[in-house]
Amino acid sequence: MAWLPERETFGPERPTVRDIDTLNRVFAEAFTDRYRRDGLAGVRVPQLNPVIWRYAIEDAGDGAMVWRDADGQIVAFNMVHHSGREGWMGPIAVRPDRQGAGLGKSMIRVGIEWLRERGARTIGLETMPRTVENIGFYGQLGFLPEHLTITLTRDLPRRLGPPPELLARAADRTARLAECRDLTNRLAPGTDFTRELTLSLDLAIGDTVLIRDPGAEGVRGFALWHSAPLAGGRPQDEVRVLKLVAEDLRAFEAVVHGVQAAAATAGIRRIAIRCQSRFQEAYSWLLEQGFRVHWTDLRMTLRGFPEPPPSGVLLSNWEI
Ligand SMILES: CC(C)(COP(=O)(O)OP(=O)(O)OC[C@H]1O[C@@H](n2cnc3c(N)ncnc32)[C@H](O)[C@@H]1OP(=O)(O)O)[C@@H](O)C(=O)NCCC(=O)NCCS
Repeated sequence: MAWLPERETFGPERPTVRDIDTLNRVFAEAFTDRYRRDGLAGVRVPQLNPVIWRYAIEDAGDGAMVWRDADGQIVAFNMVHHSGREGWMGPIAVRPDRQGAGLGKSMIRVGIEWLRERGARTIGLETMPRTVENIGFYGQLGFLPEHLTITLTRDLPRRLGPPPELLARAADRTARLAECRDLTNRLAPGTDFTRELTLSLDLAIGDTVLIRDPGAEGVRGFALWHSAPLAGGRPQDEVRVLKLVAEDLRAFEAVVHGVQAAAATAGIRRIAIRCQSRFQEAYSWLLEQGFRVHWTDLRMTLRGFPEPPPSGVLLSNWEI
């Protein structure tokens, strides 16, 4: 009898924290292989910090999906997230030996359906702009190319402003969260980052800076940041902004100053902001401040499920 590779897969199933090691192996293997095929032969993609996986799995909830082979080994995963009206997917990977057989397409279709059922009106993802196969793959599934997400980093100067207001230190956390929800809802009706803000505090991986005018009601801006290292085994040397909401450019600038001061207070000297290039004024201002371009991703949204028109500045990271 001819030997035939085992092609059976089962899923989606919801992973638990016990699956993090295997998820990490599939992640590092699939992305290292992807970079090698893109000509970056020397790049070895590290495994993620387990607590970052935990954040991804718990943030996704039922949207955390894995597929297994007949032996129960994870062969593919898609982390599907929804923040009110906003839905996005990532990270996504199929183990290299299982690629090209249709599993990726069915994972994305399941993810789209899951988001539609939950009322998402934006459905998006980000991929590497140089990776033509991925752009084609998502294109066939109905995803259209949009703007770039440009990762900007800055080594912080020694002298920074006073320590900002932080969610972790709030006497009334529920009221502060409601202020953040109200501002987000005003700028992007239906979008809600409360779960991300709360989960980051619960896992002790980051915090949220709040900016307000003295005496005025509500916040003018806020930013959720993580200081836990993204890659496993690395030191805590960078603050990454995951969500930044500001009612206007002035508030945006104040939020960035607040995050920088929070980083400095925590003894961290580097900050990374993933800025969607459609916020051109915010992008230009960051460059003027001395931020350097570090990385680019291409944002794609499903036909009929675009991002809402920009109002204020709303940077929503579609990567963990
Ligand atoms: C991207 C990935 C998830 C796709 O999963 P997969 O199981 O290999 O994908 P499938 O076999 O279901 O589908 C691949 C489809 O892309 C299409 N495709 C590939 N290159 C293409 C191109 N240049 N233009 C248009 N379509 C292309 C294929 O033709 C195929 O469609 P078809 O079956 O209709 O011909 C997988 O390759 C992977 O894990 N890559 C490494 C990690 C990664 O890049 N993750 C995504 C980051 S955003």
